[in-house]
Amino acid sequence: MPSGCWSLPDLAWTLSADEVADVPRPDPDGVLQLLRSRRVTRTFTSESVSADALTMILEAGCWASSASNNRILRFLVVQEAESIRLVRALSPGMLGVPPGLIVVCTDLRAAAQAGLQLDKDRSTWIDVGTAAMNMMVQAHALALGTCPVTSFSQAGVSTILRLPGHAVPELMLQVGHSTDGENQQRLKGGRSDRRLKRFVFWDRYGG
Ligand SMILES: Cc1cc2nc3c(=O)[nH]c(=O)nc-3n(C[C@H](O)[C@H](O)[C@H](O)COP(=O)(O)O)c2cc1C
Repeated sequence: MPSGCWSLPDLAWTLSADEVADVPRPDPDGVLQLLRSRRVTRTFTSESVSADALTMILEAGCWASSASNNRILRFLVVQEAESIRLVRALSPGMLGVPPGLIVVCTDLRAAAQAGLQLDKDRSTWIDVGTAAMNMMVQAHALALGTCPVTSFSQAGVSTILRLPGHAVPELMLQVGHSTDGENQQRLKGGRSDRRLKRFVFWDRYGG
């Protein structure tokens, strides 16, 4: 399908109306509180992240919204300390030493199959953001810290992680336990009134 052309969603990825009706709704205030209290973590303890937690985070990434439902992203989990050390050496944006990394990759084969022209289609990059955000929020719900990294050598990281030629690393998500814990101030979250005033316009774009 040409890029920019919207299709009906792939039904395999959707829930039936009955299933949707059965989904328990989380408390809206609780969801907003979770979003407001998430902050990036740049210092991690050495404690590893459990497989269950990682799986839940990855599941959240796989359920992110995707332009035209093309789903051309793949996720590589890296937990070997030596690999993370080497990746970090090639990643100016990676300030922490996390016990886990989730490398979000564009799969060029999947992109070709979807008929995408990656150099022209901006929406594929947005998919990276939706997946990353889903994972960051899920990790926060699990009391884990995350920080995205986009400042890194794609060629270098591909070599260290022995990525196949059709996998392009787009963003790496550092995942681990934050050294600063979840302090009360953060859990209260930031001031929404200030952000709304600064970033949001109603009906007409303001100055
Ligand atoms: C697309 C994207 C790329 C980012 N790249 C980096 C990065 O390379 N290194 C880093 O330390 N933080 C990176 N960040 C984290 C931002 O600096 C951080 O989200 C921002 O300062 C706001 O902080 P908050 O997420 O705690 O609200 C990135 C965030 C986004 C959304």
